Amino acid sequence: MLPSATVIETPRCRLRRITEADIPFAFSSTHHPGFCDGMPWDAPETEDVLRAVQAKNQAEWEAGTGCAFTIETRDGSIRLGRISLRWVEAGTWNLGFWMHPDHQRHGYMTEAVIALTRFAFDRLGATRIRALHADWNLGSRRVLEKAGFQFIEHIPQGFQKHGRWISEDLLVLLNPNSKI
Ligand SMILES: CC(C)(COP(=O)(O)OP(=O)(O)OC[C@H]1O[C@@H](n2cnc3c(N)ncnc32)[C@H](O)[C@@H]1OP(=O)(O)O)[C@@H](O)C(=O)NCCC(=O)NCCS
Repeated sequence: MLPSATVIETPRCRLRRITEADIPFAFSSTHHPGFCDGMPWDAPETEDVLRAVQAKNQAEWEAGTGCAFTIETRDGSIRLGRISLRWVEAGTWNLGFWMHPDHQRHGYMTEAVIALTRFAFDRLGATRIRALHADWNLGSRRVLEKAGFQFIEHIPQGFQKHGRWISEDLLVLLNPNSKI
């Protein structure tokens, strides 16, 4: 299990384990128009829904099968977004992320993805990190490409939302030091 106090630094941000105190921030992010369009879920009706998500994240951290981080400014004064890894199978982790609308397009997510993927290769023994995004989500695509991910596959039936299939693209980043 990763220590609770794990902190990953980027040039302008730090990533630290999510806490209950982050819930109002996450709740407000999801309620910005269009924020959830590229995700399988809708904005939660109450903060209690996010408490259940938090409990799941907590359990995954403790089991060593996931780690969700709040991205904040280096001095910890401003919350910016969230980024997480989930174990998929030996050596492979799945990356997910979101940035609060007030802080998008400042390059923060690119910094966070670069730092977290390095951390996964160095500290989690990852050989391969994958990420999926709705195919129209150009912001996600650009973040991943800037961090070195490569397109692997278009998936016409990626996830279902409001009874309709949303097509996704799968991108992968390989550990440059791995022989696999
Ligand atoms: C996608 C998202 C995480 C991008 O975060 P961000 O911090 O704004 O990204 P960055 O500032 O690091 O941007 C990286 C690149 O993507 C581009 N980009 C960001 N958002 C974009 C958008 N909506 N459309 C087109 N390009 C976009 C930036 O211009 C930049 O490219 P450049 O350096 O060539 O100019 C953010 O928009 C978000 O959280 N969206 C809502 C939730 C979501 O869709 N999450 C991902 C689900 S897979």
